[in-house]
Amino acid sequence: MTSDEIRETFLSFFAERGHKRLPSASLVPAAFDPSVLLTTAGMHPLKPYFLGIEQPPADKLTSCQKCFRTPDIENVGVTARHLTFFEMLGNFSMGDYFKQGAVEFAWELSLEGFGFKAQDIWITVFEGDPELGIGPDEEAIAAWESVGVPRSRIVALPRSENFWQAGPNGPCGPCSELYLDRGLDFGSEDDLPGGENERFLEFWNLVFMQYDQDPPGTLTPLPAQNIDTGMGLNRMAAILQGVETVFDTDQFAPLMALGKELAQRPDDRGLRILADHTRGMTFLVADGVVPSNEDRGYVLRRLMRRAIQHGHRMGIEPGFLPRYVDVVVETMGAGYPELERERDTILKWVRAEEEGFGRTLETGLGMLDRILEAGEVSGDDAFRLHDTYGFPIDLTEEIAAERGASVDRAGFDANMEAQRVRSSAGAGASKKVGADQELVRQLATEPSRFTGYEHLEERTTVAGVAEQGGRTFVKLATSPFYAQGGGQVSDTGTVACADGDCRATVVEVLRSGEDQAVVVELEEGSLREGEEVVARVDRVARHATQCNHTATHLLHAALRQRLGTHVRQAGSYVGPDKLRFDFTHGQRLSPEELRDVEDQVNAWILRNDPVVPQTTSLDEARAKGAMALFGEKYGDVVRMVEVGDAQSTSSTGTGGIYSRELCGGTHVRSTAEIGVFRVVSEGSSASNVRRIEAVTGPEAVGLLRAHDAIAREAADALRTTPEQLVARIGALRDEAKKAAKAGAGGGNGAVDVDALAGRAEELGGFKVLTASVPVGDAKALLDAADRLKNKLGDAAIVLGAAGEGRVHLVASVAPALVERGVKAGDVVKVAAQVTGGGGGGKPTMAQAGGRDPEKLDDALAAARDAIASALGA
Ligand code: SER
Repeated sequence: MTSDEIRETFLSFFAERGHKRLPSASLVPAAFDPSVLLTTAGMHPLKPYFLGIEQPPADKLTSCQKCFRTPDIENVGVTARHLTFFEMLGNFSMGDYFKQGAVEFAWELSLEGFGFKAQDIWITVFEGDPELGIGPDEEAIAAWESVGVPRSRIVALPRSENFWQAGPNGPCGPCSELYLDRGLDFGSEDDLPGGENERFLEFWNLVFMQYDQDPPGTLTPLPAQNIDTGMGLNRMAAILQGVETVFDTDQFAPLMALGKELAQRPDDRGLRILADHTRGMTFLVADGVVPSNEDRGYVLRRLMRRAIQHGHRMGIEPGFLPRYVDVVVETMGAGYPELERERDTILKWVRAEEEGFGRTLETGLGMLDRILEAGEVSGDDAFRLHDTYGFPIDLTEEIAAERGASVDRAGFDANMEAQRVRSSAGAGASKKVGADQELVRQLATEPSRFTGYEHLEERTTVAGVAEQGGRTFVKLATSPFYAQGGGQVSDTGTVACADGDCRATVVEVLRSGEDQAVVVELEEGSLREGEEVVARVDRVARHATQCNHTATHLLHAALRQRLGTHVRQAGSYVGPDKLRFDFTHGQRLSPEELRDVEDQVNAWILRNDPVVPQTTSLDEARAKGAMALFGEKYGDVVRMVEVGDAQSTSSTGTGGIYSRELCGGTHVRSTAEIGVFRVVSEGSSASNVRRIEAVTGPEAVGLLRAHDAIAREAADALRTTPEQLVARIGALRDEAKKAAKAGAGGGNGAVDVDALAGRAEELGGFKVLTASVPVGDAKALLDAADRLKNKLGDAAIVLGAAGEGRVHLVASVAPALVERGVKAGDVVKVAAQVTGGGGGGKPTMAQAGGRDPEKLDDALAAARDAIASALGA
C-alpha cells in the first residue's frame, strides 16, 4: 500500500461510518492557543471542541493532520522511525461513541482495511495511577475482550506509557495502544509491547479523552467523553510496505535517492537528516513560517542550518536545498496543494537562508574546530558563533557533543539575555487571557451582539455588570463597540443611561470568541443590569482607525505587487493614530521600492474604489485568492474584505479587485476616505520580518506640515529658502572640510597613536590591538597602522574605520606572530565577512573593505577571536 492509499483507506473508512472529513489544519496553531509552537497531534486543532468552548462541525470527525515534533530533531536519522514532520491519521468523537466504539472501529480497520492478523495484534491499556486518583482501565479491557482479544494479549502499563495529554495542561485521558507483533525474528519470547523494541511496533493510539487537566495533576471531567486517536502515517507505511525504516517508504525513497546522487561522502544518518529536515522546512514555509531567531522561525532556521551543515559535511555542493524542495513538492503536492501554490515563496526563503548561512559556515566551523581543539566551548564562544556566524546554539552543542566536549549553556544564555536587554526590543505586550475572558462569558447567558459594522450608536440594555481587579465590566445586549482583534484596537466611547441618570466612558472592549464586554469608568451615577442605555462609539477615533485599517490592506497588496508574493502579513497594529504593518521579507526596502509602494497606495486612494466586506464560505474565499492570516483559525463562514472596482478591469491592469483579505475589522466605504497615505518609517522587527509604520488622513497632513515647518526653520537659520537648503548645506560642509584639513596639518593627525597603543592587550605573549579609529579613508588608516607597528613592536594590529555605507579594515602582523599562525590576510578576511565584504593580502599586511558600518565592532571582535585562537590564548 502506498502512503496515499493508506491515508485514503483510513479516511474513507471513517467517512463511510458517519465521520466528517476535515482538511489538515495549519502547522501553525491558532493564535488563541499558546500551549505549543507547532501542531503536534491531530487533536490539537480540535482542542476547543474537546474543551466544550466551541461547537464542532459534527460530533464525529476524521482527519489527516500535518504534525511537527521539535523535541525529536536530534533523534532523526539515529533511529528507524523518528521524524520531525509527519502526517497523523485520526478519528475523533465529541461525546458520541466512547471506548467500546473506538475499539470496534480500530479492530475492524486493522483487520479488514489493513489486513493484519488478529493474533498478531497486542493491546496496551492504562493500569491506573494513585496520584491521579484513577484505577485500571477495566472498561477498555472489557471492550477489547468483547471484540475477541484474549486477556493474555492485553498489557496494562503505567501513566508514562498509557496516559495522554496534549501539553502540561488541557484535555487528556487514559489511552490504549495497538501493537503489531512481528514475531521472534525481531526479538525474544519475553519482549512485551510498550516502549521501543523491534518485535512490537506501535501503530495506533486510542486516547479516551475524558478530563481537563488544570493545573497539572488535577483532573476535572470534561463536558463530554471524547475519543482522539492517532496513527502515524509514515510508521504505518513502513509496516505495510515491509521495510525496516520510515526512510525506505515511498514518501522518503526519492529524497534518499537525491541525497545519494548529490553527496560525495554519503552516510545514512546524514541522508536521513536531509530527507526529514527538507520535508519539514518545505511544509513550515508553506504554512507561513520564515527563518528567524525566535519561536517557530527558530525551529525552521535550526532545521535548515542543520541540513546545510550535514550537506556540507557529506560534500554536497552548496545550493542544494531547492533541489530537495522540488522533490518534496513532487511527492507530497497532490495531498497538499499549498506546496505548489507557495513553491516560489518556499524557494525564495530556502535560497536566502542557504546563501546567508553558507557565507559564514566555513569560517564558523573553522573557529569551532579551533575552540574544540583547545577544549570546551565557553558561553562567549557560543554566543559569538551564534551572533556573528549564525550558528544556532543547538547546532553548536550537537557538534561539540559529537567530539565529546560541552558548551557553557548558562554563559551563552546570559549573553543572549544581555543582548536582549541591550536592544530592549521584543517587549511586546504579554497577552492577558483567561480570567477576563471567562468573566466576559459569565456576565450574561446570551452573548453580546456586535452591531458596530453598521451602527456607531445603539439603544440597548445592560445584560450584566461585574467588578474584577478594580475594573468594571459591562455586557451590553447589543454593542456597537469593536473589541480589539485582528490588529485593530478597541473602540472608545460612552455608555449613558437612557433616562439621563448615568454616564460612563468606555476604555476597553474585551473579546471572548464572538462575545464581548466593555470596561467602563463611571463618570456619573451607576450602571445596573436591565438598565436602558445609549451606547456611542467615538466617531472621530473610529473613522481614523478605519482609514488606517483599509490602508493596511492596501499596503499589503502594494507590497506584494512590488516585492513579490513571499510578502505575508506577520503582525499589525491599527489604531486611530497610525498603522504598523509587519511582513515577511528579507531585505531593507530601497528608497525606490518604498516610494513605489507609497505611490501605489495613494493611487488606489485617488481612484475612490469601493471597499466591500462580505460573508462567504472559506472555500469560496480561498478560491478567490483571499489572503488569510497564518495562525488564525477560520470557521466555514468567513468575512472577506474586497477593495477595487470589479466592473473596471481595464486593459492597463489598473482596475479590478486588487485586495482581498479575510478580516473581521472595520473599514471605510471607499478608498478616497483615507485621504492620503504617508510612510513614516521602514525597519526590521525580527530577522526576515520588516516593519512599516504609516499615517493617513489628518495625521498624514499634520506630518507633512511638520516637515514643512522644519524645512522652513532650518532655512531661516541658514538665512536661505527651503528650496536652497540642500545647496546651502553642501556649501557649508565643503567649508568645514577645508577648515579641518587646514587645522590638522594634512591628514592623519587626528589619530592619537599613543592612546591607541596603550589599549593593546597581551595575548599569548604578544601585543594585540583591535580598534576602530575615526579616519575617513584607507590611506589614513594604513598610516595609523604603520605608526602603531613602530610603537608596539611584535604585535598584531587590526584597525577599522567606518564611513558612510563603507568600512575600511587594515591588519598588520609582525613576522614573529606570522610564525605562530596569525596571518594578516586571514584575519582581515574574517573581519570583512562580518561586515559583508572581502579582501586579503600578505601575511604581514592586508586590507579589506566591507559594507555595513554598524557591524564594525563585531568585525573587530571576530578579528580578535581569530588572532586569539591562532595564538591559543
Ligand atoms: N493525541 C494522541 C497522539 O498524538 C492520539 O491522537 O498520540
